[in-house]
Amino acid sequence: MRFAWFKRVNAKVTYELLAKKIPATDWHFMNYGYVPNESEISNDLPANLSIQQFPLQMYHYLAAKSPIKDLHVLEVGSGRGGGAKHIASFFKPASYTAMDLAQSAVDLAGKIHVLPNLKFIQGNAESIPIDSNSVDVVVNVESCHAYGSVEKFLSEVKRVLKPGGHLLLVDFRSDNTINIFKDQLRNSGLEVMEEEDISKNVISSIEQEDESKTARIKALIPLKWQKLFSEFAGVVGSRFYLTLKDGSRSYYRFVLKKSA
Ligand SMILES: C[S@@+](CC[C@H](N)C(=O)[O-])C[C@H]1O[C@@H](n2cnc3c(N)ncnc32)[C@H](O)[C@@H]1O
Repeated sequence: MRFAWFKRVNAKVTYELLAKKIPATDWHFMNYGYVPNESEISNDLPANLSIQQFPLQMYHYLAAKSPIKDLHVLEVGSGRGGGAKHIASFFKPASYTAMDLAQSAVDLAGKIHVLPNLKFIQGNAESIPIDSNSVDVVVNVESCHAYGSVEKFLSEVKRVLKPGGHLLLVDFRSDNTINIFKDQLRNSGLEVMEEEDISKNVISSIEQEDESKTARIKALIPLKWQKLFSEFAGVVGSRFYLTLKDGSRSYYRFVLKKSA
C-alpha cells in the first residue's frame, strides 16, 4: 500500500515523542471525545468525571456494546491508558491487556494506572504479540487510521479473537477513504454487526470540551508549540473540526463479531 511505511514511522515518532515530552499524569486520553445519544445516556457513568469526560465517554459507550465482565479484553492503540483504566475498573473484565506501539506511552500508562486486572504492553497492531483464539473482546479507539496496513491489523484481530468474540472500533476517515475502510471491515472475515456515523456526537464533544481543552493546552504545552498542538488536538476551528463539520470527514463506530 502506498505511504504505508510513512504512516508507520509517523505514528511511532509522534506518539513516542508526545508521551516523552508531555509526561503530565493528569492527561489520560488522546481521542476527540463523544457526547452520547439521548437513548444511550446511562446513570451508570460516574458523575464526577473531571478528567477528560468526553474522551472517556468515547470508551464508555463503545464498551457498552458488548459483554465484558469476567472476559479477556485486548486494547490495540491504548495511548496514555485512560480508556483501559476506565473499562478495567468499571466493566470488570477478568483481564485487560492494553497494547500500544509507543514504548514511552506504555511506560507512562503503566505508571499512572495500576489495577490488578490491567497490564500495558508494547506491540504493533499489524503483528499482535498475543496467542490465537485467546481474547473475547478487542477495543480499538481512534488508532487504526495510523496503521500501515488496516488489512493486516484486521487479520490479526481475527486470529487473536475467540470464536464469538467482538471487535469494538471507532475511527475517522475522509470522504474519499471512508468506503475503502468500510470495505476493509466487510472483507475482514468478521461480521459487521453495527455501523454508526457518530460524527455529530464527536462535533458536539469538540465544542463542549473546547474551553477546558484550550486551557489544558495553555498549561501543558510550550507557547511555540501551542498552535500546532491545537490543530493536533482538534480544537474548534482546527482543520479536523472544520472537515468533520462540513462532512468531508466522518467518524464511525463499528461492532464486528468473529463467527462462533
Ligand atoms: C490518537 S491516539 C489514541 C489513543 C487512545 N486510544 C485514546 O483514545 O486515548 C492513537 C494511538 O495509536 C497508537 N498506534 C499507532 N500506530 C499503532 C500500531 N501500529 N500499533 C499499535 N498502536 C499504534 C499510537 O501510538 C497512539 O497511542
